[in-house]
Amino acid sequence: MRIAMIGTGYVGLVSGACFSDFGHEVVCVDKDARKIELLHQNVMPIYEPGLAELVASNVKAGRLSFTTDLAEGVRDADAVFIAVGTPSRRGDGHADLSYVYAAAREIAENLTGPSVIVTKSTVPVGTGDEVERIIAEVAPTSGAKVVSNPEFLREGAAIEDFKRPDRVVVGTDDEDARQVMRDIYRPLSLNQGAPLLFTGRRTSELIKYAANAFLAVKITFINEIADLCESVGADVQEVSRGIGMDNRIGGKFLHAGPGYGGSCFPKDTLALLKTAADNETPLRIVEATVQVNDNRKRAMGRKVIKAMGGDAHGKTVAVLGLTFKPNTDDMRDAPSLSVIAALQDAGATVRAYDPEGVEQARPMLPGVEFSASPYAAAEGADALVIVTEWDEFRALDLGRMAKTLRTPLLVDLRNIYPAAEAERAGLELVSVGKPRKG
Ligand code: UDX
Repeated sequence: MRIAMIGTGYVGLVSGACFSDFGHEVVCVDKDARKIELLHQNVMPIYEPGLAELVASNVKAGRLSFTTDLAEGVRDADAVFIAVGTPSRRGDGHADLSYVYAAAREIAENLTGPSVIVTKSTVPVGTGDEVERIIAEVAPTSGAKVVSNPEFLREGAAIEDFKRPDRVVVGTDDEDARQVMRDIYRPLSLNQGAPLLFTGRRTSELIKYAANAFLAVKITFINEIADLCESVGADVQEVSRGIGMDNRIGGKFLHAGPGYGGSCFPKDTLALLKTAADNETPLRIVEATVQVNDNRKRAMGRKVIKAMGGDAHGKTVAVLGLTFKPNTDDMRDAPSLSVIAALQDAGATVRAYDPEGVEQARPMLPGVEFSASPYAAAEGADALVIVTEWDEFRALDLGRMAKTLRTPLLVDLRNIYPAAEAERAGLELVSVGKPRKG
């Protein structure tokens, strides 16, 4: 199969690299000449474990290439994937579809045969209809079919998720287009038995939003249960285990923490609420989730201040982990931004360490001092706060930390450390959703 991938963001680049690894011939197209130039030099625009190696080996095998020339990419393609960004539109939270529609128009202008046009970007219900209208207007005789094929990969585990998905959702009623999609995903269904779920196009578009919203609800639910655990003296990790063992609930996405962030959950929940409002079908549970999660991030800053005795003035706080989750350099809607803002507003000085996110974080965090190691950040500080659970924070020398800090206080917002371990090291530990001592 010959595939064109329009957009080399997270989803486009990972999908393009993985499709070429399946043996397809893939051309990745991006308007950003600098990005394409760097990709030619095997420099990845994002931090994603294993991606540079995957790209290099497929480029070497002659199956994967990069260009700024959309016409070249689209020429003779069996399928053209649209994987451009759909950011929240400023002001109203609607998904901004201008990049998707511009790509559709340009693809239509350059089609050379009856290609399948696939929207992989997360797009609101009905976007496929508009893409189809654009194609029909610009290239009425092309015979192109428009398909929805949302992507469920997670940052930091993107390649694994792409290659071993729980399911692949394909939205189209057209049998020829379904066959093209079967051929593209054949290596997956052969090796892993990953089911291809065929649905209507609008249904497929909604599945993506409903999945993300459901996961956001699940996380927010356990976060509120964590608060209740603190009030009544229960342990949220055991509650998670206890409810997660019920197959109907499932154990994943039940880790209490500082609230969800990232490029998907915040943006997609808002876009879903817009669709719901436009169609006069309110989604109250998702509305509450968005509100509770927004409040939670700053509340975590207040939790740190409370742990320091209620006053942050003149105090120094060491923050470990800035990115919205580990194994990424992505700072979008990261809880650390709100936690740090709350601390600074209360008069604290913040020192921070992150393994990969500093370059992205620096311009977003004025007044923060960046350290070269967790211990350097902790030097003379009044509290050590774990905001993101990078693996390297799981094996800190807590005894050394206790001596490095001015006040031996660890606020563990990801529940990495058990109370006994912190106690042995001489650290006072404040976790999320745990019974308080004494
Ligand atoms: C998410 C979806 O998982 C993925 O299917 C979709 O394609 C894109 O959005 P991603 O944003 O990369 O992926 O990360 P994910 O691992 O889902 O985490 C999202 C946020 O939820 C992070 O801030 C994470 O820390 C938080 N989270 C996740 C929790 O607080 N608790 C959990 O149990 C799980």
